[in-house]
Amino acid sequence: MTQDEMKQAVAEAAVERIRPLLQSDTVVGVGTGSTANLFIDALAGVKHLFAAAVASSETTAQRLRDHGIDVVDLNSVAEIAVYVDGADEFNPHLHLIKGGGAALTREKIVAAVAKEFVCIVDSTKRVDLLGEFPLPVEVIPMARSYVARELAKLGGMPIYREGVVTDNGNVILDVHDMEILDPKALEQQINNIVGVVTNGLFARRPADVVLMGTPDGVEVLRDAH
Ligand code: A5P
Repeated sequence: MTQDEMKQAVAEAAVERIRPLLQSDTVVGVGTGSTANLFIDALAGVKHLFAAAVASSETTAQRLRDHGIDVVDLNSVAEIAVYVDGADEFNPHLHLIKGGGAALTREKIVAAVAKEFVCIVDSTKRVDLLGEFPLPVEVIPMARSYVARELAKLGGMPIYREGVVTDNGNVILDVHDMEILDPKALEQQINNIVGVVTNGLFARRPADVVLMGTPDGVEVLRDAH
């Protein structure tokens, strides 16, 4: 099975998993990326079963609308039953690195609101220790150099993702070679740097469940305490 076939399988498995939650007033949170795109395509098949979606990026909002799915503003929603999104890496505690597609801030906001976070990945994303994938950090543009110096003090090597402006008008620093032994602590530490909007560690609000596509089928993973 190719990586794309594994992504397709988890996308379809995610729709089956959330189907019992879908009611006429249900709002679904939808993530960003190639796996999330396949989920959106599969979700279109059950669009008559739920009310609307909240999107984690402009790209996702457009794809949802193209399928005829109503996209609503998060501020008009009291509850998101479930959020489905991909990840760049996940560890056995279902802590994630996200932001490869630069949508980390809106992703983290939607994940915070959602009652359940279902993460959909293929098996190439599984790691024991987070950090092989460079950690994305969204930064207010005027603070870019300052934040980069502070991130270097934490032991990482920040690289400016040139030419990328986030949906919020900010820039991204990708932090290479960061030793992430305590993801929850590091998430908070980076958030405390003035000028940082969000970082791509999802450890304080991890996934509740990971659906992982493997060559042998889809595995359902929960936190290995
Ligand atoms: C978007 O900003 C990211 O958080 C994505 O969720 C992540 O990059 C996974 O994308 P793929 O599904 O394309 O691997």
